[in-house]
Amino acid sequence: MTANELREKYIKFFTEKHGHKEIKGASLIPENDPTVLFTTAGMHPLVPFLLGEPHPSGKRLVDVQKCIRTGDIEEVGDATHLTFFEMLGNWSLGDYFKEQAIKMSFEFLTSELGLSTSMLAVTCFAGDDDAPRDEESAEIWRSLGMPEGRISFLPKKDNWWGPAGITGPCGPDTEMFYWTGEEPAPAVFDSEDKRWVEIWNDVFMQYNKTEDGRFEPLTQTNVDTGMGLERVTAVLNGKKSAYETELFTEIIGEVRLLAGYSEPNEEQQHAERVIADHLRSATFMMGDQFGIFPSNTDQGYVLRRLIRRAIRYARKIGIEVDFARKLAGIVVKNYGDYYGELRDNQEKIFEGMALEEEKFNKTLHNGLGILEKEILKVNDRKNEGVKAFEENFFFEMLATYGFPVEMTIEELENEGWIRDESDKKYVMDKFNHYFEEHQKLSRAGAEKKFAGGLADHSEETTRLHTATHLLHQALRQVLGDHVEQRGSNITKERLRFDFPHPDKMTDEEKAKVEEIINEQIKKALPIHFEEMSVDEAKSRGAIGLFESKYGDTVNVYFMGEGDDAFSIEICGGPHVNNTSELGSFKILKEESCGAGMRRIKAQVGANEA
Ligand code: SER
Repeated sequence: MTANELREKYIKFFTEKHGHKEIKGASLIPENDPTVLFTTAGMHPLVPFLLGEPHPSGKRLVDVQKCIRTGDIEEVGDATHLTFFEMLGNWSLGDYFKEQAIKMSFEFLTSELGLSTSMLAVTCFAGDDDAPRDEESAEIWRSLGMPEGRISFLPKKDNWWGPAGITGPCGPDTEMFYWTGEEPAPAVFDSEDKRWVEIWNDVFMQYNKTEDGRFEPLTQTNVDTGMGLERVTAVLNGKKSAYETELFTEIIGEVRLLAGYSEPNEEQQHAERVIADHLRSATFMMGDQFGIFPSNTDQGYVLRRLIRRAIRYARKIGIEVDFARKLAGIVVKNYGDYYGELRDNQEKIFEGMALEEEKFNKTLHNGLGILEKEILKVNDRKNEGVKAFEENFFFEMLATYGFPVEMTIEELENEGWIRDESDKKYVMDKFNHYFEEHQKLSRAGAEKKFAGGLADHSEETTRLHTATHLLHQALRQVLGDHVEQRGSNITKERLRFDFPHPDKMTDEEKAKVEEIINEQIKKALPIHFEEMSVDEAKSRGAIGLFESKYGDTVNVYFMGEGDDAFSIEICGGPHVNNTSELGSFKILKEESCGAGMRRIKAQVGANEA
């Protein structure tokens, strides 16, 4: 079964057999969530609905969500780690719970995918001070014929999911494993044995973790499930790794062609996987509906790291020509049918890849020059080896010149300054020391920024979210209808809004925008939402680019009465009830955030009433 067939089968099973509505997967760039840079799971864009907001498509949902996890970027290249992956998921928003969820999972695995029960094992939550042992799930598995030896109880670190950020919905989960070993599956499951591969996770969201670390019961219990598309495709085709499936055949084939080998040795295999993984992720990031480009902050920085890491590995296996654009072309071709945004944005992707590759080549060239100069300076102390260099030099090569430490090491090895492992260790230790010092400083800033908590629906963020709508509309009035939301991010202190506009805003334009918004605040406009079809929303003049994310009906928020409302926008909420609750509105900063893109940061004042 191919990955395409698996996607289709999953959606069909839940829509046709079990009454779910299919929803479109969301962007990779989370909206209004300051705690994470990327969408990391299918549940992530659904947080407001898991917390009780009614979803326009109902209580049983199913989708395919593109996800990015860069936590273990250094592990990429082994058999299982991927930075980009697709997650198949079905949800119950206060509808079915453990029994039906587990039964459907079991039915899909055995009847639809044809996996044998004899190859399956499951784990359940063992219980602790926060929540009891999940006997209920285990009992359901027993009733389906799962033998005792194949049901394990594990602690929170294994069988608990969420919250995705600091606060939010979470609960015990039950995970399903498939035996991939050559020998017959052992009677007793062993969580340490890597031949048991996790294929699916049913999370039972019963709790909301609060800012002070308490687990309070959710009024609405939910089910959130996640099945990794790449892994399951590998399992179904008897492959040891996602990299051996058809999802990677063409891109890895091209890498081999460019590098000039057909059978990789171990080092080449590792490198080709890193390259394929990173450029697949980078293509999806740049081709996203809220596409991003390489930069030195936030998502743009992660993207830059991925591309540059791919280039470094390409050099290692002897690829000297520009290749990033070519590999991105393969990703667009293979995924463009399902992810139309890749095709829509392909020119941007290709230009972005080529540009970053060119920049990095310059950085490397430049860095080599700096390194040579530095070597000349200490050349008469070569007997001291790497200790002849200033201690912070290895970090400065990266911090000031963008030259990766791995390449500094390689060059110093080639030039005879690094003679053995202990020299190498010395460089890494010094590098890490200064790197950590630097991180401590920037963390102080970042902590403030991340203080909000996942999809933190505190009063502050709710007010800022409402202010974002007013800003969107006011910008359109002052600058024109080409203004549309391209990115939004809210912390407790400020909102951030990105939109296309060719010029820097003048002081007059900024003052006008503030004036319009403050007027709406003074008018104390009531806010309400109505559910309607996308077409109706459009005909009533609603703005908002998010229709692709929802099913047939959407929530439309009105600020002011009826069709004369000041702002009519498609949105998942939440919002305050009246614009007067914002107190006042102030622009803190207006700046460029890419070619033809502007970014506004703004604040709302305390409500004096
Ligand atoms: N959120 C859970 C996970 O990421 C299930 O979807 O595994």
